[in-house]
Amino acid sequence: MRLLKSEKITVKDFIRMKEEGEKITMISAYTYPIAKIIDEIGIDSILVGDSLGMNILGHENTLNVTLEDSIRHTQAVAKGTNRALIIGDMPFLSFGVSVEEETKNAGRLIQEGNCEAVKLEGGEERIEDIQAIKSIGIPVLGHIGLTPTYVNMFGGYKVQGRKTEDEERLLKDAKLLEDAGVFGMVLEAIPWKLGKKITEEISVPTIGIGAGEYCDGQVLVIDDLIGLSDIVKPKFVKKYVNTQEIIRKAVKSYMEDVKESSFPSEEYRYD
Ligand code: KIV
Repeated sequence: MRLLKSEKITVKDFIRMKEEGEKITMISAYTYPIAKIIDEIGIDSILVGDSLGMNILGHENTLNVTLEDSIRHTQAVAKGTNRALIIGDMPFLSFGVSVEEETKNAGRLIQEGNCEAVKLEGGEERIEDIQAIKSIGIPVLGHIGLTPTYVNMFGGYKVQGRKTEDEERLLKDAKLLEDAGVFGMVLEAIPWKLGKKITEEISVPTIGIGAGEYCDGQVLVIDDLIGLSDIVKPKFVKKYVNTQEIIRKAVKSYMEDVKESSFPSEEYRYD
């Protein structure tokens, strides 16, 4: 059953939550069943992140994710979601080539993916793009700090903003994004003091992932949070359960049952 429009979390709720000091919860997730579970328990927002490249498609990084991949998984998440704000992620090459193409790609994520907002990585160099996307009615979530589509420029997945000049650049980027009209921004892998400073100096909410506890909200990737992924974990990941271990045990028991002919027993057969 679809909710009334008034019950759906919107970008306006993000701003209100910051003003009222209510923390925003966000999870990066990519599939219908997971979306359904986390929406039903009341997550505020689901980002269909391009980390789907590693966690679902088995790629080494996010650079192989295409706009079609992003649209397909955003559709799946939208089908399982009633209440949470759904944000589609703009993958590598879907932005940065030309403003026209980028605006159209953002539009496709909304129209075909059925999300309500898009996320775009980058700072000062993305201002014109953000304004163009926003001008056709698409809310944009910014993303600065360790932005994975720039991994080859960073020389790996490294904490950003440690040097004074980088700290100043990130603070400037955050303010420029705010002026360009983003409804919030992800701060990834930066020192907590910088996360706090940016959060205090801008009016839109910051969503931290490895940016400390002072951000207005937090995002984690579902596969990391439930211990399903075996990609090397950064310091900021908290694993709440070891799903790999649960799956291993279940499948091992099933295999033993089949080998010993104890499955299927009478209750699992037809008369
Ligand atoms: O792709 C993703 O899942 C993300 C989050 C980690 C912010 O960008």
